[in-house]
Order: sequence, then structure tokens, then C-alpha cells
Amino acid sequence: MKTIKLLVLVGSNRKGSYNVALAQHIKSLLPPEFEWNAPDLFQLPFYNDDLQNSGPPSQVTAFQQLARESQALFVISPEYNWGIPAVIKNAIDWGSRPWPQCPMGKKPVLLAGASAGPLGTGRLQLALRQVFACTKNYTLDTGDILVSFASKKFDSMGKIIDDDTKIAVKKNLDLFITGLNKL
Ligand code: FNR
Repeated sequence: MKTIKLLVLVGSNRKGSYNVALAQHIKSLLPPEFEWNAPDLFQLPFYNDDLQNSGPPSQVTAFQQLARESQALFVISPEYNWGIPAVIKNAIDWGSRPWPQCPMGKKPVLLAGASAGPLGTGRLQLALRQVFACTKNYTLDTGDILVSFASKKFDSMGKIIDDDTKIAVKKNLDLFITGLNKL
């Protein structure tokens, strides 16, 4: 069985985070050949070109190596002020360097997010597509995973309690896996 290595960017580390819960749910649905790697993005320093050029700290080089080795990228994140949380953008900036090799680039990406509001991170996902146009990451023939009104969709233990949400997550994840297998 060939392992498929995933780099998973989770954009919240809040206690009770809906996105951490969504990430756990997605992980639980994956077939065994998938290797889930979700590094702690909050341990990465803010991007600085001097650091990159002089030899970045070990958590950065480990992150870049993981990005290089991964076959696909998952971004599972809240939307902050209609846009990309700093921790996610920072991780993408590190993952894009050194340039033009761009260790994170040119890989398929699954976009997923849960938000308090009605759009379920749709505006974040649009903003991510702009960044991924630069890094040549691409989505597959699948819907995006958008969980709106998150407080109504998860219980206090972080389990999804809404059947439509469970169905949509599974459907889009299965489509992504099908697309990945066709590459
Ligand atoms: C938010 N939230 C939010 N929600 C939304 O639907 N659209 C938005 O633009 C924003 N903006 C925003 C900015 C900041 C700074 C915070 C802290 C929050 C609300 C957000 O969806 C909610 O707090 C989620 O619960 C965050 O995800 P986690 O931490 O539960 O994974």
C-alpha cells in the first residue's frame, strides 16, 4: 500500500475550536494509506527573509521538508475578518520558500473551514485561492467544505451533530480522494 502524505494546516488552536474538531472528523474519515501531518503552526516564527537566508530554525526546516514530501495539502481554518488568519498565511509563506522551488507548491489542496457566520469561511477560501494561484496549488473537482453556524453543528465534545454537514464533508472528501487517485 502506497502511503499518501498529507500536510494539514489547521488555523486555530483555541480550546473548543470548531476547526480542530472538523480536522479530527476529516482525519477519522480518511483511508489508512493517508498519513496525516498537522504541524503546530503556532510554533513557526513570523516569516523573515533574513531568517530564511541565514538558515531558519529547526521547526521551519522540518515544516518545509514536510511540505516538500507531501502529496497534497489540506487547509482547515476559520475565516478572520473575511480573510486568512495570520498563522495560515505565515505557514504558506514559509512553505513557499526557498523560491522558486516552493516546497509547498504545485500540489492539490482541499479547502475546509468552520465559522460562526452564515458563509462557513467562503471568503477565506476565495482569499486562499488567490495565494494558491501564486504557489500553483490547485483544487480538484470537488466542492469545498464549508461549515456555517458552527455552534449548531458540533456538540460540546467537538463531534458533528448535523447530518447534512456529515454528508457534505464525506462527499467532498471522497471526491477529493477520487481526484487525487486520478492524478
Ligand atoms: C472571527 N469570526 C468570523 N466568522 C466569520 O464567519 N467571518 C469572519 O470574517 C470572522 N472574523 C473573525 C475574526 C476574528 C479575529 C475572530 C476571533 C473571529 C468568528 C469565527 O468564525 C469563530 O470565532 C470561530 O469559532 C473560529 O474558529 P475556531 O477557533 O472555533 O476554530
